[in-house]
Amino acid sequence: MSLPSLHIGGLTAKVPIIQGGMAVRISMAKLAAAVANEGGIGLIAASGIKPPELIENIQAARKMSDGIIGINVMVAVREFANLVQAAIKEGIDLIVAGAGFSRDAFKWCAEAKAPFVPIISEERGAKMAERLGASAVILEGKEAGGHLGTGKRGLESTWDVLPRIIGAVSVPVIAAGGILVGKDIAKALDMGASGVQIGSRFAVSDESNAAIEWKQACVDAKPEDVVLVESPVGMPARALSNEFAKRIEDMNSEKVKTRCVRCLKECKKNYCIIDALEKARQGDLKNGLIFCGERIGEIKEILPVKEIFKRLIKEYELAENPVITYG
Ligand SMILES: Cc1cc2nc3c(=O)[nH]c(=O)nc-3n(C[C@H](O)[C@H](O)[C@H](O)COP(=O)(O)O)c2cc1C
Repeated sequence: MSLPSLHIGGLTAKVPIIQGGMAVRISMAKLAAAVANEGGIGLIAASGIKPPELIENIQAARKMSDGIIGINVMVAVREFANLVQAAIKEGIDLIVAGAGFSRDAFKWCAEAKAPFVPIISEERGAKMAERLGASAVILEGKEAGGHLGTGKRGLESTWDVLPRIIGAVSVPVIAAGGILVGKDIAKALDMGASGVQIGSRFAVSDESNAAIEWKQACVDAKPEDVVLVESPVGMPARALSNEFAKRIEDMNSEKVKTRCVRCLKECKKNYCIIDALEKARQGDLKNGLIFCGERIGEIKEILPVKEIFKRLIKEYELAENPVITYG
């Protein structure tokens, strides 16, 4: 059986794979376009950048691909409204929003006829999103990299929450968190998901905008190196254990001397998240924070997006059509 296509609003992606938006500046034009060129949906990460840089990236991605290009932006960032409005003006194909809930964004996207896809972590959020007009929802479980939403039951596995979300809403449900190989895609689709969102595997691709040191740290990581840290956003976040992640444990604002640009609507100010993510992205692994998913230890190579798709599709087909051997 070959992979089914993914329908969100009026869009059809040939391959039901969304490349997760990854801030700061990890999933930009080149990665989003490469994913879109393979028939998936490429997302440019808008959190932590200003509208002109976002517009530049949308235009660059459009030059590289005729496929589906969207943006991902965290509701928690102060520039949220400006970034969404800028993307809409550029005629973006869809908008994915995480780390919070914005009723306004549903309205703006409905007016612009741009599909709006919130990231949720439990049934209540999924139902509310559907009621407000979401074109699909992305269910992110505890295995995911980056900020994690916490439902009533605390952090839960993608595989435990997924059936409950599918039962709660009738819009397409995309599974995210811990999707690494084609077998995981087969499992999610067999459970009733319409598609998957993958972050970590694409973060460690040739086209990812992270420094080679960042990618190599991920390739060298062992499963036990993945930790949960407290983010100034007020949510737990999944990251790689490094010197900075260890320092977060006993950090207070006096120890952190970064210039505050008030990038978040609300910030706990225990450290600057944008600065920490950007430093790591540029290769300063001592003073930066590396967001990554729980299964990063299983990624052993930095590959081009084309090859990642080839392998995912082959693995999916193998999972759905196991070879029968006799004797
Ligand atoms: C480096 C990194 C940065 C991320 N940044 C964001 C972000 O800016 N916004 C967001 O909604 N999700 C973000 N995520 C989550 C991904 O979009 C995706 O949902 C998640 O990584 C899926 O889990 P996986 O890594 O196991 O595939 C990030 C994840 C990683 C690894």
